[in-house]
Amino acid sequence: MKMRATWDALASDPDAYVGDPKRGRMELEGLFERLGADPRGGTCIEVGCGSGRMTAALAERFDQVLALDVSPAMLERARVAVPDERVEFRTVSGERLDGVDDAIADVVVCYLVLQHLPTRATVLAYFSEFARVLAPGGEAFVQLPVFDDGLRPRAWRALRSALVPLTSLGPTRRREFRGYRLTRGELDAGLARVGLRVVATDVGPDAPYRFSRDLFLRLTR
Ligand SMILES: C[S@@+](CC[C@H](N)C(=O)[O-])C[C@H]1O[C@@H](n2cnc3c(N)ncnc32)[C@H](O)[C@@H]1O
Repeated sequence: MKMRATWDALASDPDAYVGDPKRGRMELEGLFERLGADPRGGTCIEVGCGSGRMTAALAERFDQVLALDVSPAMLERARVAVPDERVEFRTVSGERLDGVDDAIADVVVCYLVLQHLPTRATVLAYFSEFARVLAPGGEAFVQLPVFDDGLRPRAWRALRSALVPLTSLGPTRRREFRGYRLTRGELDAGLARVGLRVVATDVGPDAPYRFSRDLFLRLTR
C-alpha cells in the first residue's frame, strides 16, 4: 500500500504533481494525434486518472469512462473536477485493475503513470492487465519514458534502484514516485509476452529523467 500512501500524500501538493492541469485536454489530443488515431464511442478505461486532468475530455469522446487510480485522495479531487455521469471513478490496488472485467474496453488510456510504478514487475503487470481488459479490436494509448540502452545507463539504473529505497524523505523521494524504467528491448519483450502488438509509436523529446526518452504507444491484442 506504499503506492496509495505516496499518492494520497501528493494529492494535496500541486507543486509535486507531474502534468500541468491546464494542458490535460491538449496533451490527450496530442497523444491520439501523434499515434494517428481519433477514437470515439464505446468504453474507455483511464488508468491513473489523477485529479481528472484528462477525464472530462475523455468523457466527451466516449460513451462511458471508467477512471481508475490507486489514490482515493486523487479520485476525490477528480470527482469534484469532473461531475459527469458518463464517468465512474474507482480505486485500484496498484498491482492490477481490480474488479475490471475482461475484454470490456474499446480504449485504454494511461498517461504519466507507468513512469511512477516502483518495479519492472509492476510495469509489466499493468501491460498484462491492459491486454486482459481490452475488447477484441480495442486499443491502448500509453505514454511512458524508456531507458536508453548501453552500459552507463544500466549502471546508473542499478545504482539508483539500490539507493532510492534508502532515501525516504517524503513522497517524491520514494520508489513509488520515482519509478522504474524499462529499456525499449525489455519493453518489447514484455509486450510480446503479454500478447500486445504495437500498432504505432512515437518518440517525444527527452523525458525529464536521466538517460530516458518519452515513448508513445498504440497497442492492440
Ligand atoms: C502524474 S499523475 C498523472 C495523472 C493523469 N494521468 C494525468 O495525466 O494528469 C500519476 C497518477 O497515477 C496514479 N498512480 C500511481 N501509481 C498507480 C497505480 N499503480 N495504479 C493506478 N494509478 C496509479 C497516481 O495516484 C496519480 O494520480
